[in-house]
Amino acid sequence: MLSLSLISLLSLPAALSLPLFGLGGSTADDSATGAPTPFSLADVNSTLLRPAQFARVAYCSSASITAWNCGTPCEALKNITFLQSGGDQGLVPLYFIAHDADDQSLVVAHEGTDAKNVLSILNDAQFGLVALNASRFPETAGKNITVHDGFQKTFERTADSLLAGVMSGLASTGVKKVVVTGHSLGAALATMTGAMIKDAVDPSVDVTVTGFGLPRGGNQGWADFLDGQVRLFSPLAHVGVTFVSNQNDPVPTVPPKFLGFQHSSGEIHIVDDSQQNFVACPGQDNANCATGNNVLKSSVANHLGPYFDDITFGGSQCSDSS
Ligand SMILES: *[C@@H]1O[C@H](CO)[C@@H](O)[C@H](O)[C@H]1NC(C)=O
Ligand SMILES: *[C@@H]1O[C@H](CO)[C@@H](O)[C@H](O)[C@H]1NC(C)=O
Ligand SMILES: *[C@@H]1O[C@H](CO)[C@@H](O)[C@H](O)[C@H]1NC(C)=O
Ligand SMILES: *[C@@H]1O[C@H](CO)[C@@H](O)[C@H](O)[C@H]1NC(C)=O
Repeated sequence: MLSLSLISLLSLPAALSLPLFGLGGSTADDSATGAPTPFSLADVNSTLLRPAQFARVAYCSSASITAWNCGTPCEALKNITFLQSGGDQGLVPLYFIAHDADDQSLVVAHEGTDAKNVLSILNDAQFGLVALNASRFPETAGKNITVHDGFQKTFERTADSLLAGVMSGLASTGVKKVVVTGHSLGAALATMTGAMIKDAVDPSVDVTVTGFGLPRGGNQGWADFLDGQVRLFSPLAHVGVTFVSNQNDPVPTVPPKFLGFQHSSGEIHIVDDSQQNFVACPGQDNANCATGNNVLKSSVANHLGPYFDDITFGGSQCSDSS
């Protein structure tokens, strides 16, 4: 239901305002330049596959997620118990919480929005950087941390009920691991959700965040905060969010750095269409990965995928997709 028509995919770049795209991919002086290292398919399977599968489910209808009968996306995930959902498939994006018995984890997955929508939110001048809600993140008070206004407003609409659901899910299942995931706008929400959960849970609980097609969500202070806040799974010796950028997807390059936005570290970049070649990009906004993309080659189709294991986002693989 959220999939884009081919026509809108093709006409999208032209419909976007040029200033943002003219500079969004350019690299500023503070971009990392370290050489990316190969990230194997085995690493993809053991670290990124399950979060991607859950982020794919989040695009299916709320009823089919609740009953866990959403077709291929649900069938790929066994031994899942649905616990809670919130939001809707309109202005307040859907999220769900589930217990993954095989992985001994609680999963929080955020639905995204179609590429046209996320790019127009990002491109909307009324959504600049605003102060991070220091009442929710008390340890950040006075630290000059700013985030995308539209993302924070959207996050706040479901934050309290989501957090209550996670706390009760941890208590009822006894697991010690929370996996937060999402694609596109859902990835941006996942970073805020993961940081919130990390603040609320016992330090012994492992919280990871994995995002796909993640736009920049805040300033340098926010990027640094995320880098210290959420632990990444092995095998990367890195603390923070992990996010996967697919080839020439324009979304990870916006909003642009010249407006004060900065990515946290932890980027895994997909190099080609083979679903076999991945690299880990050291530092923040590494110029050798999505940040260095040539704007003229922007591909909105890359935002949807496939990323690996034939996973695409946007709902086209759900049983009730139109
Ligand atoms: C990764 O998983 C896919 C399917 O899930 C499988 O076909 C492939 O052999 C796996 N590759 C490695 C290296 O584990
Ligand atoms: C997962 O489900 C399979 C069959 O449905 C079962 O054999 C297995 O024990 C389950 N694993 C867990 C951890 O519940
Ligand atoms: C900030 O976070 C608190 C919870 O700590 C919440 O009650 C409040 O609504 C949030 N403020 C805004 C403006 O969203
Ligand atoms: C806040 O951080 C921004 C970078 O994100 C920087 O440009 C600005 O000077 C900082 N302001 C203060 C008061 O430190």
